[in-house]
Amino acid sequence: MGTIIINIKELLQTRTSAIAKVSGKLMDILPKIENAYLLMENGLISDFGAMDNCPATENHLIIDARGKIVLPAWCDSHTHIVYAGNRETEFVDRIAGLTYEEIAQRGGGILNSAIQLNEMSEGELYEQSKIRLEEVIKLGTGAVEIKSGYGLTVEGELKMLRVIKRLKENYPVTIKSTFLGAHSFPTAYKENHTAYIDLIVHDMLPAIANEGLADFIDVFLETNYFSVIETERILKEAKKYGLVPKIHVNQFTAIGGIAKCVAMEALSVDHLEIVTDADILALKNGNTMPVALPSCSFFIGIPYTPARKIIDADLPLALASDFNPGTSPSGNMNFVVSLACIKMKMTPNEAINAATINGAYAMRIEKTHGSITVGKVANLIVTKPLNSYYQIPYSFGSNVIDMVIVKGEVMGVGIGLWNYYTI
Ligand code: NIG
Ligand code: FE
Repeated sequence: MGTIIINIKELLQTRTSAIAKVSGKLMDILPKIENAYLLMENGLISDFGAMDNCPATENHLIIDARGKIVLPAWCDSHTHIVYAGNRETEFVDRIAGLTYEEIAQRGGGILNSAIQLNEMSEGELYEQSKIRLEEVIKLGTGAVEIKSGYGLTVEGELKMLRVIKRLKENYPVTIKSTFLGAHSFPTAYKENHTAYIDLIVHDMLPAIANEGLADFIDVFLETNYFSVIETERILKEAKKYGLVPKIHVNQFTAIGGIAKCVAMEALSVDHLEIVTDADILALKNGNTMPVALPSCSFFIGIPYTPARKIIDADLPLALASDFNPGTSPSGNMNFVVSLACIKMKMTPNEAINAATINGAYAMRIEKTHGSITVGKVANLIVTKPLNSYYQIPYSFGSNVIDMVIVKGEVMGVGIGLWNYYTI
């Protein structure tokens, strides 16, 4: 017996033949079926189509979605959901005029979070992090990547990655984990970068591989953080353990990092608030997904990723939340999609493609997530009654979600989220 959603006003992102990602002009095409049904069995999408062809429903649990839109749950390919405490004081410092970089140079920023994290027990870190994970699921996220990077010590990094592993085990959403030991140089290593990279290479990477804690490797490739050469060394070593690169790059400056990441077959390059013509050219020579993080631009007041420049160059683009305590203390992908439309001039079609199938590609789960395709995981958003799906980005700040379905099960908001049930 399955669950069937009937009378769907608009079923979005329907792809009968599987695609890995969408690029350029094709990003403005979002296939949909009006007045549709969708059948889920064993946690997977098993059938969908127009209501005219709806199969007999007697054997199924029925959800009537009259007036409502159904689309794939968001695929948020870049977050730092596991962190300790908060950084509201830096928020106030920025209002008073300090920049993100000035705060970091005073020992705030990532190092501030690292102090809090190293002082916190693994149990408490899990408790704080799971609240954020539950929140983003309620907001429609069905797959999420989570990074380490606030430990910056062997024990701290392992603690974070073990918490991510526990979240993977305890929650039905799909979670991918990324090792970001190269997020910042700890104060003790400020003058001796090689020694910290040695620690990453000789101590962190083998310990992480030994416990199978990471799917991907990340580095903050940026002026005053990790150089192109330092990044290259880390990526080469990580490759020995099968870790695929997803890199923070071009957030503040363009120093040739994108070309290096593409050459090293990075799965994604993330941030890209600053993009040169050479960066565009480099991206066109590879399969690396550019990922924009507009809530970071919004929160710390830096430029938005030039989406038009990227898409108009026939490249793909993904959107992610960057949920973290310093530059984006929000994992709300609905807001990310709104910002992309309002501030980056992406169309709703482009933004929804970027936050579903292209986000899935940026986590290497495009074969199983990110579109309405038979055989894919039944992770879905059912909206409230809406005029059209344009209202999803248009009604920014409002919650347009009625129901979130993960692995074919309705998340039981209001009856205790984690006693989820089937209607
Ligand atoms: O993606 N830029 C590097 N890392 C994070 C911010 C980390 C922090 O400030 O805590 C980001 O924006
Ligand atoms: Fe980030």
